Amino acid sequence: MRPLKVLFVTPEVEPFVKVGGLADMVGALPKELATLGHDVRIICPAYGSLKVEGEWQPRNEPLGVEVGAFTRWARTWQTMLPGARVPVYFLEHDAFFARPEVYTGPWGAHADNDQRFIFLCRGALTLCEQLDWIPDVIHCHDWTTGFVPVLLNTTLRPSRLGRCATVYTIHNLEYQGYADRAAVEFARIPWSEFRADSIEAAGAVNMTKAGLYHATKLTTVSPTYAEEVRRPDGGCGLHDVLNFRGADLVGILNGIDTTSWDPAHDRHLPARYHAGDLSGKATCKAALQTRLDLNVDPHVLLFGVVSRLATQKGLDLLADALPRVLDHMHVQVALLGSGEAGLEHAFRHLAASYPGRVGVHIGFDGSLARLIQAGSDAFVMPSRSEPCGLTQMYAMRYGTPPIVRATGGLADTVDQYIEGKDTGTGFRFNDATAAALYDTLGWACATYYDRPREFMGLRRRGMARDFSWRRSAERYVELYRWAVTSRTGEVFASP
Ligand code: ADP
Ligand code: GLC
Repeated sequence: MRPLKVLFVTPEVEPFVKVGGLADMVGALPKELATLGHDVRIICPAYGSLKVEGEWQPRNEPLGVEVGAFTRWARTWQTMLPGARVPVYFLEHDAFFARPEVYTGPWGAHADNDQRFIFLCRGALTLCEQLDWIPDVIHCHDWTTGFVPVLLNTTLRPSRLGRCATVYTIHNLEYQGYADRAAVEFARIPWSEFRADSIEAAGAVNMTKAGLYHATKLTTVSPTYAEEVRRPDGGCGLHDVLNFRGADLVGILNGIDTTSWDPAHDRHLPARYHAGDLSGKATCKAALQTRLDLNVDPHVLLFGVVSRLATQKGLDLLADALPRVLDHMHVQVALLGSGEAGLEHAFRHLAASYPGRVGVHIGFDGSLARLIQAGSDAFVMPSRSEPCGLTQMYAMRYGTPPIVRATGGLADTVDQYIEGKDTGTGFRFNDATAAALYDTLGWACATYYDRPREFMGLRRRGMARDFSWRRSAERYVELYRWAVTSRTGEVFASP
């Protein structure tokens, strides 16, 4: 079968700019697709905070992007995804992207987010024209890219790009991108699209809904989340749309970048290790304890957390449960995160109340994240909802059994430990309550101290799991072909 041309339009891509797991996914899946022989490229905004690595070249031709009442000009830069034959293009337009943050500034979400990201959508499509490179499929990621399928179905339908199929991946339905109706004119799409079965919701424009109605195919990042979002309690108000589009919606589990996330080769760690010899993990534990002002003790059970501090992640449950946990169990906690002010405050307060036992770093720190994955004994992730979740997979790969609420991708990736049975890779619970989390932390604690051989079995089975992208990348390729066939009628011959 012929190789495909696939364009990723995205607000984040690792290692250049990252807020959460979307960046990891967009930095990893294209590598695997390129290995499978496809021509994959990525387009992302050039934020003020972009981490420039490797060769980095401006393109000579300015890019005129038709948005609003006039043409706005952008400069474009080109580099390659490290370690892959995947070109990455950045759109530079200072009025929208010079500021360092992706979505949210010191005073909340940027007020012009709709214009910023409609500019990204239209700019990405214009760049394809300029490159004279017309993709078979454009893969869109969350609300910021929801206008790509809308533009292709309306204003740009008669153009050369009108044949492009689109795949819209839902990474997180909790962030939908609401905009004023003026977005219609800014995007230069017909007013007739401002209706409930297109881009309108509650008198405004909903950029996620726009993507869900207009994309050729839809995905979520795990099979269980694909089921959950169709239910009234899981669809964040869009379950009806997702049921309407149900035949075109599939859940494909994210993989992880197993080259970057590998305890045997991770250069951010003070010592490296593998399943056959975990002594390096003990060195990481001591380094982590020192780094976060915890008592250095190789024997105490150390719980790790690396997360956006958001209610969605269930970390309020952890903050509620911890005083009782710390009073009754011989454990320590190492936490890295930033986000909601109330949660930041709660964890700072816990660190001050339990010196030497709770170590907290509020901020974003990629290498500390790895040290926590490696140096902890168990990884805590009590999410209320979790579309996929990558950190539990990193934890398993680093020999750190996860303790998770069985929702979304956590349910799809963590197998329940059963006492005495030599099975499972972590500890699961169902109720989103501090009491259920407390009980499960207690279960992990009892296993660690009383059944160390079984705890070691959990570590080893987790480390042996294959979380690589290969299988999921092949599923995306199938989906891309299905999308192309739906959009253009092209039938792919079997090899
Ligand atoms: P989400 O995308 O919802 O935040 P994921 O588990 O999919 O959740 O991905 C989170 C990613 O962000 C992981 O790579 C994790 O290591 C990283 N991360 C989260 N918080 C921090 C932080 N404070 N510092 C460094 N990395 C972080
Ligand atoms: C989102 C989700 C997370 C998922 C990530 C990558 O940020 O919250 O669960 O792992 O996207 O798809």
